[in-house]
Amino acid sequence: MKMKGVLLAGGNGTRLAPLTKLMNKHLLPVGRYPMIAYGIDRLRLAGITEVLLITGARSLGLYAEYFENGLKHGVRLTYRVQEQAGGIAEALELAKGFILPGEKFVMLLGDNLFLDDLQPYLRNFNKQPAGSARVLLSPVKDPHRYGVPVFNAEQSSKIDRIEEKPQQPQSQYAVTGIYMYDDAVFQWIERIHPSARGELEITDVNNLYAGEGRLEYDVLTQWWCDAGTFESLAEASLKMKNVTL
Ligand code: DAU
Repeated sequence: MKMKGVLLAGGNGTRLAPLTKLMNKHLLPVGRYPMIAYGIDRLRLAGITEVLLITGARSLGLYAEYFENGLKHGVRLTYRVQEQAGGIAEALELAKGFILPGEKFVMLLGDNLFLDDLQPYLRNFNKQPAGSARVLLSPVKDPHRYGVPVFNAEQSSKIDRIEEKPQQPQSQYAVTGIYMYDDAVFQWIERIHPSARGELEITDVNNLYAGEGRLEYDVLTQWWCDAGTFESLAEASLKMKNVTL
């Protein structure tokens, strides 16, 4: 089944201020390209050609200038505006209507850079029943910075729950910003409420799936990085410095 892609490029990027005072985080340079170009490229390489890019009104024109309709970059782009940084799940809600009933899709957070080919993971997700979800994990040294999975003791393919930035992580894995859903996700988003930081959290959505035994995972085998801090942005630039897309 051919899947669609949703690429998030909203948010305030406060951890990268003052770099993000004038420039949306996902337009900052990484190697030879703006950060967001790598996400588009990962989707294209996985055979995904219909992509929805979500960002704030202030930056939308710059994305359109860079990618135009996407065809030169191997995809067909649709754009939507997230009016305020209300959370990853709030941004995802904007994909309703782009994702049609019964369709499966992959969502990437635009600040997540990685080298794995997505295809085997998409194939695994395609084998899952309708109404289930899949996340990709990466082993990390500092899991407290991320969503951290707690594995199911009996069914090793499943996650029991995800703890968002826990002080005492239950595993050494980060839940990366690569998520697979079908259109059922929009019903789950309706059931969650803003968190303490005032956002609709993707972890709350994923925990509704996990609570029903409907959240599976794969572990990335290659380098992955969330380029949302100065340190990780520098790491990403170094890693990508000779990459041409
Ligand atoms: O990078 C992986 C991590 O991303 C996960 O491990 C966490 O579970 C997940 O909550 C998320 O954590 P962050 O705190 O790093 O998320 P952040 O607010 O930095 O946003 C991540 C991306 O989502 C970034 O590319 C911008 C986009 N975004 C974010 C918000 C809040 C939007 O497009 N709209 C938004 O409203």
